[in-house]
Amino acid sequence: MTNALITGWGMYAPSRIMSNKDLEKLVDTSDEWIVSRTGIRERRIAADDETTTTLSVNAGRDALAVAGMTADELDLVIVGTCTPDYYMPATAVLVAHELGATRAAGFDLMAACSGFVFSLATATSYIRSGMARNVLVVGVEVLSRFLDYTDRNTCVLFGDGAGAVIVSASDAPGGLLGLDMYSDGSGKEGIIFPAGGAACPTTPQTVAEGGHFVHMAGREVYKYATRQLAESSRAALRNAGVSVDEVDQFLFHQANLRIIESVQNAVGIPMDKTYLNIEKYGNTSAASVPMALVEAVAAGRIKPGDRLLMAAFGAGFTAGAAVVEWTADPSRAFLAPGEQTRLGKPQQQLAEVGA
Ligand code: ACO
Repeated sequence: MTNALITGWGMYAPSRIMSNKDLEKLVDTSDEWIVSRTGIRERRIAADDETTTTLSVNAGRDALAVAGMTADELDLVIVGTCTPDYYMPATAVLVAHELGATRAAGFDLMAACSGFVFSLATATSYIRSGMARNVLVVGVEVLSRFLDYTDRNTCVLFGDGAGAVIVSASDAPGGLLGLDMYSDGSGKEGIIFPAGGAACPTTPQTVAEGGHFVHMAGREVYKYATRQLAESSRAALRNAGVSVDEVDQFLFHQANLRIIESVQNAVGIPMDKTYLNIEKYGNTSAASVPMALVEAVAAGRIKPGDRLLMAAFGAGFTAGAAVVEWTADPSRAFLAPGEQTRLGKPQQQLAEVGA
């Protein structure tokens, strides 16, 4: 069987940091409230000249370099995002163009925070069916452009960022071992941009009412997330035939530290096997899981043969969990031009991976 292996990876988080103290100046909140209820200390905010496309291109360029591949070798670009640059054209098409992926088709995939897991599953299907050999999968958000910075219920939670992987066809074992994908439209009101779509087109009134911003029923989302993240994680493990103890690294959607802790307790996951970066980035939605992946690799927490569980939940409601066998040499991260993917490791280490 043809397998779909992760051969490249990259991330990009904007350099501008917004701390909880900065938010205290905008809304009636406190660093203590945000840290104790969510685990978030700061988040990244895109610069004025940065877009969903530019963040994706930065992460995608690193992923290509790590894979040792040029953009014209890509057959497909999938961008998982709920904050595309435009309703049309698709951001993936713009990303492919900027990268020089002249042969690649591109489309966006909208599953909110589950966007990366859904996109990885889609890329794997294309590869296993023989319809593509090399796919760039990006999870990216510029949520700061869709937040009402007078609404403390939402603006403290989210941040901007991008994570990307290259998935390539191979006869070698590895890649996706088990998957669970879940959707439930009865959760529509849980997290929503109420206006600006076909159901409620933009008018001066919808803009005045802030209908183009994220609206969220936090407690309902919390209840859903704790239940479904655990359910989907168990289902993906079952489908993979892998026990919890056999997983080497857990990469959860970083929405709220309490949600992750609740799932750890429910499923029996040890804290030291769970990668956490929520305190630095907040909830970056579809970018959250791939950014955690890239950082965990750079931190030396992932090696060839390891089994990873990636799991996310989001608006819709949606949820997705994927058990993946990692096969790549982690030191290839040093080939990335972007220092976030390399975590600032010196360039001379390139020699060690034969660059
Ligand atoms: N600062 C200070 N106080 C606040 C803030 C804030 N930023 N936000 C809410 N409060 C207040 C509330 O008004 C409430 O006050 P009251 O008791 O006087 O009414 C009090 O704090 C407690 O509010 P709760 O909603 O009960 O707080 P909770 O402990 O549930 O935490 C939170 C709220 C963090 C939003 C939590 O419910 C949560 O994480 N929910 C999930 C959200 C999520 O993950 N969303 C992303 C989904 S992914 C996607 O697809 C984009």
